[in-house]
Amino acid sequence: MIYSRVAGTGRYLPEKVITNFDLEKMVDTSDEWIRTRTGVERRHVAREDQAVSDLCMEAAKQAIDAAGVDVSEIDLVAVGTTTPDTFFPNVATLIQHRLGIPPCPALGMEAACTGFLYALSTADKFVRAGESKCALVVGAECLSRLVDWTDRNTCVLFGDGAGAVILKPSDEPGILSTHLGADGQYRDLLYYPAGPSKDLHKIGTPEAAIMMTGNEVFKVAVKTLGNVASEALDANGIDKSELDWLVPHQANIRIIQATAKRLDLPMEKVIQTVQDHGNTSAASVPMALDVGVRDGRIQRGQLVLMEAFGGGFTWGSALMRY
Ligand code: COA
Repeated sequence: MIYSRVAGTGRYLPEKVITNFDLEKMVDTSDEWIRTRTGVERRHVAREDQAVSDLCMEAAKQAIDAAGVDVSEIDLVAVGTTTPDTFFPNVATLIQHRLGIPPCPALGMEAACTGFLYALSTADKFVRAGESKCALVVGAECLSRLVDWTDRNTCVLFGDGAGAVILKPSDEPGILSTHLGADGQYRDLLYYPAGPSKDLHKIGTPEAAIMMTGNEVFKVAVKTLGNVASEALDANGIDKSELDWLVPHQANIRIIQATAKRLDLPMEKVIQTVQDHGNTSAASVPMALDVGVRDGRIQRGQLVLMEAFGGGFTWGSALMRY
C-alpha cells in the first residue's frame, strides 16, 4: 500500500505586524477584550505590493528545502486560498512557473479556512493513486485585503500568511486518512458578499466586507470540530489517548480549547499560533504544523491530527504519522 508522507514543511509571515494595541487606535476595542475573547495578540499583514503568490513562494521554498527535493521532481501543485492574486490563472499555476517546476497539474482550491485541508486531501489521493511522486501543497491567505478595518467585529480576528508541505509516496504511513465536509445552509453566518460574477464593483470598497455572526459561528465550529476529530480517529480505529499532537485551525483559542477538551488532550499537546498569527484562514494549519516541526515538538512517527473549519461552512481533517 502506498501512503503519502509529509517530507518537509515551510511557512512565511509578512514582516508587518499589527498588535492589539495598534488596533486600539483604529477601532473601539481593547487588548484585553481581544485577548480574552479570541487569544489573538498580534497578526501579520502583507504589504501593498505583496500578493498571495509572493507569500506562497517563500513558504514553498522552505518546504522544498526541508524535504530535500529538487523543483524538477515536483509533479503536482495544489494551493488552498480564498484570496488569489487574480481570478485566473490560479495561484498554483503562478507558483509552478515562478519556482521553475515543470508543467504539471496545478490545482486551486477555494474552501475558506479549510482550503489547505481540501488541497492536502486531494494531493494525498493523487499520491496514493500513484499519479504524483512529489506534490507541493500550500495554504495561503491575504484576508487583510477583504477585512473592513473599521469593523471591530472582524478586523481584530484575521491575519495573512502562507504554509506549505511537500508530500511524497512512502510504504510507511504517512497520512492515514483525510475527511472533508461542507454544508451550505450556513452561508449567511460567514461570507464575503461580492465576487467575480456577483457585485464585482463592490470588491475592496466599503460596500463589501467580511460578514460574520460571530457567536453562531463559534457554536457550530465547536460542535463540528469535535465531530471531525472523532470521525478521523474512528475511521482508523485509533483511541484519542494515542494522539501526540493536535494541529488545529487557529481561529479562536476558546474553540481550540473546546476541541482539545473533547479529546482529553492537555493544551501542551496542542500547537497554538493564534496569539501570534490571528486567523490566517487557509494558511493557519500548515503554518502551525511548520511551527511544531521546526521547534522540534512534532517528531517523526508521532500521531498528528490536523483539523479546520471555515466559511460555507466547510470543514476537514487529516490524521497522520508525521
Ligand atoms: N472589541 C470590543 N468589543 C467588541 C469587539 C471588539 N473587537 N467585537 C465585538 N465587540 C462587542 C460586540 O459589539 C458586543 O457588544 P454588545 O453586547 O454591546 O452588542 C459584545 O462585544 C459581544 O459580542 P459577541 O459577538 O456576542 O461576542 P463573543 O463573545 O461571541 O465574541 C467573537 C466575538 C467574534 C470573538 C466570537 O464570537 C468568535 O470568535 N466567533 C468565532 C469567529 C470565528 O472563528 N470565525 C472564523 C471561523 S473560521
